[in-house]
Amino acid sequence: ARLVVLVSGAGSNLAALLAAHDVPAYGARVVGVVSDRPGIRGLELAQDAGIPTAVVSLKEFPDRAAWDEALTEAVAVFSPDYVVAAGFMKLVGAPFHARFGGRMLNTHPALLPSFPGAHGVRDALAYGVKVSGCSVIVVDEGVDSGPIVAQVPVVVEDADDEASLHERIKVAERALLVDVVGRVAREGLVVEGRRARIGR
Ligand code: GRF
Repeated sequence: ARLVVLVSGAGSNLAALLAAHDVPAYGARVVGVVSDRPGIRGLELAQDAGIPTAVVSLKEFPDRAAWDEALTEAVAVFSPDYVVAAGFMKLVGAPFHARFGGRMLNTHPALLPSFPGAHGVRDALAYGVKVSGCSVIVVDEGVDSGPIVAQVPVVVEDADDEASLHERIKVAERALLVDVVGRVAREGLVVEGRRARIGR
């Protein structure tokens, strides 16, 4: 299966996918990496791996709708079977959903539906939960509200701050994302209402 990965930052999830995709049996290949900002580590990782990249910055477009169209087009040129948002910090709009709906996965550093949004780790810690974790979901029109494909728990330690908890969550997150993306690529993805499952 052909994958396009969307990134906005460090790209450690992308790095994990790039490490996995070299093995043919993995069943998925990253064929393009698209970012909403230039100069980030995620783009460098892609370039070092010889993967084509594209940058679609919101500030270069007159409005959000024009950016949405451009982002959709930038991803579509790679003809992906699946799109994986791996630390992509923007919501995609209607044209993107029309084109890639039901075949776009996102990873989130909390156990959804708790603590959606940009600060899932901080919010879980502030709430005082003793277990958090990570979720891979199918992207829908809402904020981290799509059907859940898989989750892994991570225990919160008394001494944790946001950085230490996020670091442990990211270890679990990378493993989960690599596992789920490979299985989805090999076995397919079925979404029935709120329920998502790997298979045909
Ligand atoms: C991940 O925890 C992702 O879920 C999030 O931000 C982090 C991105 O990490 N929202 P990276 O860019 O893949 O290293």
